[in-house]
Amino acid sequence: DNRIKIAPSILSADLSRLAEQVREVEAAGADRIHVDVMDGRFVPNITFGPVLVRWLRPVTKLPLEAHLMIHAPDEFLDAFAAAGINTLIVHVEGAIHLNRTIQRIKELGLKAGVAINPATPAVMLEEVVADLDLVLAMTVNPGFGGQAFLPGTLKKIQTIRHMIDEAQPACELEVDGGVDPETAPRLVEAGARVLVAGSSVYGAADGPTAGLKRLARSVG
Ligand code: DX5
Ligand code: ZN
Repeated sequence: DNRIKIAPSILSADLSRLAEQVREVEAAGADRIHVDVMDGRFVPNITFGPVLVRWLRPVTKLPLEAHLMIHAPDEFLDAFAAAGINTLIVHVEGAIHLNRTIQRIKELGLKAGVAINPATPAVMLEEVVADLDLVLAMTVNPGFGGQAFLPGTLKKIQTIRHMIDEAQPACELEVDGGVDPETAPRLVEAGARVLVAGSSVYGAADGPTAGLKRLARSVG
């Protein structure tokens, strides 16, 4: 299946009607739901934890992925697993024993992803990429939705694409930050196959369904 996948980020959803907002993107063709977990230390913002995942789980059939922008992620892996998460994504910058963290995520029966910030070189993934189900390349500095895409990240996405093709072709390459119908085709050309989208879906003036379909068309 070569189709580009879309993961709407609920960070930009109307949280007073979260269930409805998630069902809407599911019906519009979203492939998974992206949950941005922030602790106020790793990034300058605070968002959701396992309790939100637990409430979200029965709302949708789509896989749920948690993007952990937190210190000491190891302490929370089990709680997210128990809450019903499908994929856990930890930052290469936030994990000291990254290999151990990845193994633990797999032991829990989940898919393992590693995220990498714009300023971190691709080589930091080299020793773990063979063990990964997913790499999440940040195309903004994490912490907030609605930031402008950093074009300097395109070259690194190409580098990661080559690394994945050589070491672990089944590993997905996902991008996160400022993804919209203008930037998405460039990201796909660079090698991305999964697009996280917050404001271009949930912030669309004509609503999430129209936003998602516009994004899908831009890479279709
Ligand atoms: C940023 C988060 C993103 C965010 C993307 O820290 O990791 O997932 O929701 O939002 P947009 O698509 O608006 O850049
Ligand atoms: Zn994210």
